[in-house]
Amino acid sequence: INIILLGPPGAGKGTQARRLVDERGMVQLSTGDMLREARTSGTEMGQRVAEVMDRGELVTDEIVIGLIREKLAEGAKGFIFDGFPRTLAQADALGALLDETGMTLDAVIEMRVDDEALVRRITGRFTCGNCGEVYHDETRPPAKEGVCDVCGSTDLRRRADDNEESLKTRLLEYYKKTSPLIGYYYAKDKLTSVDGLAEIDEVAQRISAALDGA
Ligand code: AP5
Ligand code: ZN
Repeated sequence: INIILLGPPGAGKGTQARRLVDERGMVQLSTGDMLREARTSGTEMGQRVAEVMDRGELVTDEIVIGLIREKLAEGAKGFIFDGFPRTLAQADALGALLDETGMTLDAVIEMRVDDEALVRRITGRFTCGNCGEVYHDETRPPAKEGVCDVCGSTDLRRRADDNEESLKTRLLEYYKKTSPLIGYYYAKDKLTSVDGLAEIDEVAQRISAALDGA
């Protein structure tokens, strides 16, 4: 099955996508991760997107649609779209790409978390630079300080856009440009809303239940 995880910055999309990869063998397609990879590659495109991302604004539809098109061509048992689509134009483009390749969209999981909790989650977040595991100072610290539980790396990093100023812009971008997708997918009968304000395991169970019912 192919699913979209939809929700504001810090809702837990990346955290839950990794769980689904482990539990169901699905493939996570995070446009945020792809763009962060592009910026470390030092290409011209990478440099252009770096400034936009650090301000917390959305990069152009053309760039992200191009990234997704490449990945879909590789095929998989099931895709988890994490952080894509983020505009109505991206949603239309995804629909067309799936049609072209004969794939279906099975469910859109909207993760609901209030702004106050989002700020707490984003300002406490760090990730493993080696394997991508997501941590939090309070809610998900590694067992041994400074060392990744999963791969043992000590390369734990914070993102340049995880500051209060950029986060404000990211939230505004979400409410202006991305939240209309909730109605878009509701009208297509694809939407399930999940309360994301619970422990990580509990949210994972809610998502699993939603997928098994889809
Ligand atoms: P992107 O990388 O997609 O970031 P985002 O949408 O802002 O989402 P986050 O990664 O911040 O949050 P998340 O929901 O994955 O939460 P996480 O699981 O990490 O995009 C970054 C930028 O790239 C954009 O601003 C834009 O510039 C560009 N971009 C990307 N895609 C684009 C597109 N399609 N179009 C245009 N531009 C695009 O969790 C957050 C924290 O909370 C962690 O510390 C975690 O441990 C903790 N946590 C998670 N779940 C729980 C829980 N249940 N309880 C307590 N803590 C929890
Ligand atoms: Zn790691």
